[in-house]
Amino acid sequence: IDELLSEGVAGKRVFVRADLNVPLDGTTITDDGRIRAVVPTVKALADAGARVVVASHLGRPKGAPDPAFSLGPAAARLGELLGADVAFATDTVGESASSTVAGLADGQVAVVENLRFNAGETSKDDAERGAFADQLAALADVYVGDGFGAVHRGHASVFDLPARLPHYAGHLIATEVGVLKKLTDDVQRPYVVVLGGAKVSDKLAVIDQLLGKADRILIGGGMAYTFLKAQGHEVGSSLLQEDQIPAVQEYLARAEKSGVELVLPVDTLVAGEFPDMKAKTPGNPENVAADAIPAGKLGLDIGPETRKLYASKLADAATVFWNGPMGVFEHPDYAEGTKAVAQALLDSPGFTVVGGGDSAAAVRTLGFDEQAFGHISTGGGASLEYLEGKTLPGLAALED
Ligand code: 3PG
Repeated sequence: IDELLSEGVAGKRVFVRADLNVPLDGTTITDDGRIRAVVPTVKALADAGARVVVASHLGRPKGAPDPAFSLGPAAARLGELLGADVAFATDTVGESASSTVAGLADGQVAVVENLRFNAGETSKDDAERGAFADQLAALADVYVGDGFGAVHRGHASVFDLPARLPHYAGHLIATEVGVLKKLTDDVQRPYVVVLGGAKVSDKLAVIDQLLGKADRILIGGGMAYTFLKAQGHEVGSSLLQEDQIPAVQEYLARAEKSGVELVLPVDTLVAGEFPDMKAKTPGNPENVAADAIPAGKLGLDIGPETRKLYASKLADAATVFWNGPMGVFEHPDYAEGTKAVAQALLDSPGFTVVGGGDSAAAVRTLGFDEQAFGHISTGGGASLEYLEGKTLPGLAALED
């Protein structure tokens, strides 16, 4: 983007593909981190006199307008953060979008409605995606890719559109890639990775890569129970992906052979049922050894011994990557494990990267100072796929 700014953008229509996919409670944004992250790019362009057209997806609507997934609240928040009026088009490439963009003065910003209200955005059919990318291209003279959280998607606005316009990477993408490079090229050791979240299937590919890179991998969250079961322990009614057990067993064996410490919970908070997330009524958890989860009970957070163990494994880390909460942190009874890991990252002397999605939201909603971490990524799946060594369509499209 520095190159673009130095060439001059005054009067040009610049399409910024952002990732404003923020969590919403009705129309209330519960974590605006992704909107704040794109402000430097939007502001730099607007200050330089560009007519900025911001576009994003939000949620997974089914290729047609759905008010529950409107970008209206995100557009309003972007305006607050910029301290400027932001125009909002109620469609993406229709009459509202073209008249809104045509009405922009130099230095003004517009947001168009959710890209995924159009079937062409996510279509697997190249021609359908291409046709939608043509419509998007008509809105702008230049493309700036800055939606890091979506660069792993080969979607029209991420992959096909940059080929149709002069294209540049925004500040956010440049920062994110710079940080993730530190985890892949020439990493400082010990390199400790903390992985949590519900599904082990989402993390298998990254574990596969990390077994050759990390010194220690600490496992928590719902995925830990598939690991415990793979070791032959009963896990009661905890979350379990039976079909993943053979893959997990293979990783456990590989870790042992290669000398990577793969660390599992030693104790876990359990309850008879999943907590009521709306009422947040107390869940009466009890702490049990991780190899003795009673029948009918389900694990909902790592226990106090595991918190201490994981903190000790992080204490001397030179590099840390953390993705995925340790438990159902949204409920106060099951937030301590995630809090303890966040605190251990802060206490560690190393460079700490929090992968996006739930762990980034957890850090912010549990009251931690996000500035104290080395980097909080806006990309959940995107940062994992980067670490898996995959070619990310949204980065490849900007590279030529
Ligand atoms: C994310 O939340 O990880 C990104 O915004 C991508 O969203 P998606 O998984 O719906 O493509």
